[in-house]
Amino acid sequence: MAVKIIGTGSYLPKNVADNHFLSTIVDTNDEWISQRTGIKERRLSSGSKEGTSFMAVEAAKAALENAGVTAEELDLIIVATVSADSFVPSTSCYVQGEIGAIRATCFDLNAACSGFLFSMNTANAYLEMGMAKTALIIGAETLSREVDWSDRSTCILFGDGAGAAILRKEEGEGGILASVTGSDGSQGDVLTCKSRGIQNPFYKSKRKKDYIQMEGQAVFRFAVTTVPKYIKHLLKKTGLEADDIKYYVLHQANRRILESIAKRLKVDMDKIPMNLDHYGNTSSASIPILLDEINRNELLEPGDKIILSGFGGGLTWGATLIEW
Ligand code: ACO
Repeated sequence: MAVKIIGTGSYLPKNVADNHFLSTIVDTNDEWISQRTGIKERRLSSGSKEGTSFMAVEAAKAALENAGVTAEELDLIIVATVSADSFVPSTSCYVQGEIGAIRATCFDLNAACSGFLFSMNTANAYLEMGMAKTALIIGAETLSREVDWSDRSTCILFGDGAGAAILRKEEGEGGILASVTGSDGSQGDVLTCKSRGIQNPFYKSKRKKDYIQMEGQAVFRFAVTTVPKYIKHLLKKTGLEADDIKYYVLHQANRRILESIAKRLKVDMDKIPMNLDHYGNTSSASIPILLDEINRNELLEPGDKIILSGFGGGLTWGATLIEW
């Protein structure tokens, strides 16, 4: 038996904010953003009707159609997000209601930009345990609600969007072969977005609002050292060489991070597909959006090996090897 990805889907808002447009909002320019990040434009939600839940539902519907699976067949829905429209109900329960996945168990998962990968591992465990046969996993984010649009050091980095995949345990070989994951809460302060302050009869927080705050260079150092280390660990564990992998589907944070990872793995950049120039950093949505592009462009054939790797706030990281 193997746990396989049998379909993918994604949704991106139509509003495009290119670097020139951002230079009319904050003191920045296309040259600075392009050189430091590789990002040219990002998609931004048009408002509350196009929030995290809506985008998650659209990505889910596309993935179900791509897989040829009905919503009633789903046993499990996990949504990875750090920008849900509501604390309760969870985004996954909202998706369940909208698509009619009446049999599914649903919950959300927060592992920041590693969220999709962690959701995949969790779903894999459910499937391996026999607790589910078919799972829908989604990464969905409206990060435009969490950035300070007057802070040029962060607002240029992020975008909105959602991506999804259907996992199924079925006869055969391949599928999810191995995973490594990790977390380091002691470094949590390098990337934060606090929730609203406590207000109760005993305490009145002065904090009114908070936005994404980041020590950019610390995050950069973390990403370029941790990701190659764990990918190498995964390769060693499975007896593979870096070149045996067709694509490294990495979290789309920054072109320079991806170039540095390629160098450290000693692989060509054509093994590291990128769409961050168009979408910016969509946190947990970036890996499934990219995977959906790869899948729909028919770039994968049965037997191809890919490694998905996420890294982000928490800190969290992980890598998963899949035989398509
Ligand atoms: N436009 C123009 N100038 C800017 C901008 C901007 N948008 N933002 C910052 N600057 C200025 C700063 O004010 C500073 O000016 P100063 O020298 O006069 O003080 C100068 O540019 C350099 O600022 P740094 O913050 O040192 O720039 P750095 O070279 O570190 O690049 C960046 C910043 C792109 C964020 C980089 O640190 C990076 O890529 N970090 C990785 C973080 C990342 O990708 N995070 C994504 C979220 S986390 C994740 O997904 C895992």
